[in-house]
Amino acid sequence: MAANDGAASPPLANRVILITGANGGLGEAVARASAAAGANVVLLGRRVPRLTRLHDELEAAGCRTPSIYPMDLSGAVPEDYDVLARAIANEYGRLDGIVHCAAELKGLSSLQNLPLEDWFTGLHVNLTAPFLLTRACLPLLREREDACVLFALDDAQRTARAFWGPYGVAKHALRGLVSILADELENSPIRVHGVEPGPMRSALRARAFFAEDPSTLPDPSAYTRACVQLLAGTDRASPRFVTLQPHSTAPRSLGLATFAG
Ligand SMILES: NC(=O)c1ccc[n+]([C@@H]2O[C@H](COP(=O)([O-])OP(=O)(O)OC[C@H]3O[C@@H](n4cnc5c(N)ncnc54)[C@H](OP(=O)(O)O)[C@@H]3O)[C@@H](O)[C@H]2O)c1
Repeated sequence: MAANDGAASPPLANRVILITGANGGLGEAVARASAAAGANVVLLGRRVPRLTRLHDELEAAGCRTPSIYPMDLSGAVPEDYDVLARAIANEYGRLDGIVHCAAELKGLSSLQNLPLEDWFTGLHVNLTAPFLLTRACLPLLREREDACVLFALDDAQRTARAFWGPYGVAKHALRGLVSILADELENSPIRVHGVEPGPMRSALRARAFFAEDPSTLPDPSAYTRACVQLLAGTDRASPRFVTLQPHSTAPRSLGLATFAG
């Protein structure tokens, strides 16, 4: 997976892309795809050994040397995100994209039985953290001629049903955040998209569908081509909310009229 294999000009050449949940299913897959597309990737996560392994694999594959940024989003405060933005500015002098893949789902539970701590942590990691991180990085992103922020969403109908708890509530609110932020940045160089992958093999999926055979699900890498396309701005007419089709480069608009961009 050398960065320049078979492509005269990789779509993300020289771009700096920050990926949260970079040791998770989708996050790692997006990191690999972005690095293969020529990006400098900043890998944010809380499991340093797994991030280090990914770092070493990407480097060995001939990609640009990634950066690791250890961070537990559940305990991070606004100043921590300012420090992160300054660190990226100092290291690279630019930031071209953020992909919010980190998400917490402890399991399915009724609201009645949910430990209150899980409510607060779920909303913090899945909603407040991506808000704070994006806000802290907006000044850096605005300096680019073209920048992009992707928020990973989930099936709106399924996660509005019983037992999806703070994860479901936060993902719905995140849709609202995407809509508001995209409106506010309409005349800026920053493109904002909510991306909805289909079911994929990951730890998060297994916690919700514990009886499911994971081998029946696509690998997260099946969804990354469209993410790279969005980050690269190849198609400026891409809708604000897009469903990711496995192995597709053509994002489709989500069928939610209320939020259609
Ligand atoms: N899997 C699916 O079928 C599916 C479907 C639709 C949408 N999605 C969305 O796709 C995105 C990626 O999910 P995934 O399936 O790849 O899940 P995953 O493999 O469980 O990855 C989630 C990532 O978030 C990280 N994370 C959780 N809490 C964190 C915290 N407090 N601080 C820092 N990092 C934290 C995890 O790190 P640890 O390893 O340290 O826990 C992990 O790297 C999520 O936004 C999810 O909602 C997934």
